[in-house]
Amino acid sequence: MIAPSVALGLVALARAVVASNQTIDELYFYGMSPPVYPTPNGSGIGKWATAYSKAKALVGQMTLDEKVNLTAGVSVSNGCSGNIPGIARLGFPGMCLSDAGNGLRNTDYVNAYASGISVGASWNRELAFDRGWYMGREFKTKGVNIALGPVVGPLGRVAEGGRNWEGFANDPYLCGALAYETVTAMQSAGVATSVKHFIAYEQETDRNPSGDVASVSSNLDDRTMHELYMWPFQDTVHAGATNIMCSYNRINGSHACQNSKTINGLLKEENGFQGFVVTDWGGQHSGVASALAGLDMAMPNSDFFWGANLTAAVQNGTVPESRVTDMVTRIIASWYQLHQDVDFPEPGIGMPSSLLEDHTVVNARNKAAAETLYRGAVEGHVLVKNTNNALPLSNDAALLSLFGYAATAQTEQGPLANVSFSFGSGGIAVQNYTMITGGGSGANSPAYISTPFDAITNACIDKGCSLYWDFESAEPSADPDSSACLVFVNAYATEGFNRPNLHDDYTDAIILSVAATCNNTIVVFQNAGVRLVDTFVDHENITAIVFSHLPGQDSGRALAALLWGEENFSGKLPYSVAKNETDYGVTLAPSEGEGAFVDWPQSNFTEGLYIDYRLFDKSDITPRYEFGFGLSYTTFEFRNLSLAASTTASTAEYPTGAVAEGGQTDLWDLLYQVTATVINTGLVDGAEVAQLYIGIPNAPVKQLRGFAKPQLMAGESAVVNFALTRRDLSIWNINAQKWQLQSGTYNIYVGSSSSDLPLSLTFSL
Ligand code: BGC
Repeated sequence: MIAPSVALGLVALARAVVASNQTIDELYFYGMSPPVYPTPNGSGIGKWATAYSKAKALVGQMTLDEKVNLTAGVSVSNGCSGNIPGIARLGFPGMCLSDAGNGLRNTDYVNAYASGISVGASWNRELAFDRGWYMGREFKTKGVNIALGPVVGPLGRVAEGGRNWEGFANDPYLCGALAYETVTAMQSAGVATSVKHFIAYEQETDRNPSGDVASVSSNLDDRTMHELYMWPFQDTVHAGATNIMCSYNRINGSHACQNSKTINGLLKEENGFQGFVVTDWGGQHSGVASALAGLDMAMPNSDFFWGANLTAAVQNGTVPESRVTDMVTRIIASWYQLHQDVDFPEPGIGMPSSLLEDHTVVNARNKAAAETLYRGAVEGHVLVKNTNNALPLSNDAALLSLFGYAATAQTEQGPLANVSFSFGSGGIAVQNYTMITGGGSGANSPAYISTPFDAITNACIDKGCSLYWDFESAEPSADPDSSACLVFVNAYATEGFNRPNLHDDYTDAIILSVAATCNNTIVVFQNAGVRLVDTFVDHENITAIVFSHLPGQDSGRALAALLWGEENFSGKLPYSVAKNETDYGVTLAPSEGEGAFVDWPQSNFTEGLYIDYRLFDKSDITPRYEFGFGLSYTTFEFRNLSLAASTTASTAEYPTGAVAEGGQTDLWDLLYQVTATVINTGLVDGAEVAQLYIGIPNAPVKQLRGFAKPQLMAGESAVVNFALTRRDLSIWNINAQKWQLQSGTYNIYVGSSSSDLPLSLTFSL
């Protein structure tokens, strides 16, 4: 329920919003978290039947104390982020939970995969799946039952958000599609995924209570909740996710881990979620309220809320024992669902550091993952500017001059150094060196780091080129004889803090200083989010700009292969790069507590559905580089758009199916199939991301609802298919509390980015 002081604020806010012409429908449910009780019991629907019957049998043998013990973490110094104790008499060994969604951290003999933002930039479902599979194997071999990832919240509402890079994209469709693959793959490797952070966790400022100041409340309406923030979580529930992590923030006034509307309502009732909900670390703020709102597990410990107090609450009748039984049934069913009862190492056995296996086994596992690690690094690169044929570099380039602070690794590095695990300004070391991941609990542990400097040195050994470098000067000058000058800089972000800016003067000065004397200046950003470029983009000596994102341990060698054209760029921006900070409007920076709300910080999502390209479309703002944009060394054409309606699926206004994992079953019915032909019209091989956007009546003018990435040889063409489901074509009707097909004209657009959409057609419902 919403706190009275907050409700007053929302009334004032609602008036302001009415004045800006929003409809009553859009206001309805704005800032409201209606109560939803009781918690729906996990029932073993769909593929969960066997796991639930086994879980019920095991849980049926537990005493109340034993059940309560499974609902909260215990302190064990084994390197896991969290531990659930075992019950020896019943043969339950306990569970280890560890970070995170881009690779396992704080341990050795594992790999640093490309981060979420790079996978988002790849727009490659197969890559997302393969990466999930190989990561899952590493978690399993270390005895980590539950991987604390992937991230789909933050979605990326706030351009300066500190954790946007951990997730895939700030479009819910792209984010959800890649998260679906990740969850499916990691769980098929036998590891549970903790999809996080649920929900509307869009800023680091005030993410947790501090002193007298509460955690920030994300205030939003029900339609925006469904169409933006819930969408990717829904995809992961549909994929069979066994675990969801509730977030630190409040939602419409109630803490995320005791919000009955989001946990009981959205997740367990509407989306048929069969797994369990765990708190973010220290994210529990009540005992009885969180139990009744649907929380199932508290981490890293029971604090003063659960443990003996939960037992007492059951004994005095405040919390029904059936709720505790449901918590534990959900936890144990998830364990059975992934066959961890028969095929899993001792929990946490390989954490924090040990080489338990034969060296040949470890090396064979790493070699099997090598191609995926490399492809993740390659495909996350996005080329946004390339003039005068600056790239690919010629094999005849004689002198390459290298600048910037991000070309080399720091001097001490090793599998356990986990260099990027640093919060805030403590992350200077990473900020000033090459950046393969962002900071905080999402940072991963590299087996090695291939730096840009190392990889370019190796290339010059092969090709005979010479190198000049200056990685120290704040205002370096280049030898005008250079064939090309490469400037390696970054845009850092970490958990715990939002980014202070979307560009910084120190870095811009390095770039402009090199460009002053070098007429072929190529700028390479390792970037954990949006990085503005308007301070230098039109400089005639700046011929190319690359966003590397966060490539993981294969960063340098992926970049070198792209620079010399041994690989082609195929990444596309998973966000829009604006010309100015102000273009992002209220979605630029985190909300701060202010005035009367200083103790109760509020973040009002008054922009509703209009973030990123939806916002720019609505406000008629031309971005510098639009969502979905990225150049290639070849060219593509799109032709032959066609649409085929399903002959069997119903197009009734509302779905009628029973609720299964991911919502009503017919939400996933295929209503239309769209096809188009993509032709590689250039001279080299390459992959194109074909993108489908829809203008749904009564919705933003266009929203991504399909993508495909064919690899095409020069001259080759392929037909791409986009499957449009009932959900893809619906909006969330807040009055009916259902997804609703609209009557009217739907516009379909297909092309190479959100602004370059040469093909279109319409159909009506
Ligand atoms: C982070 C989570 C993480 C957890 C455990 C929290 O501070 O928000 O993403 O999984 O710590 O390390």
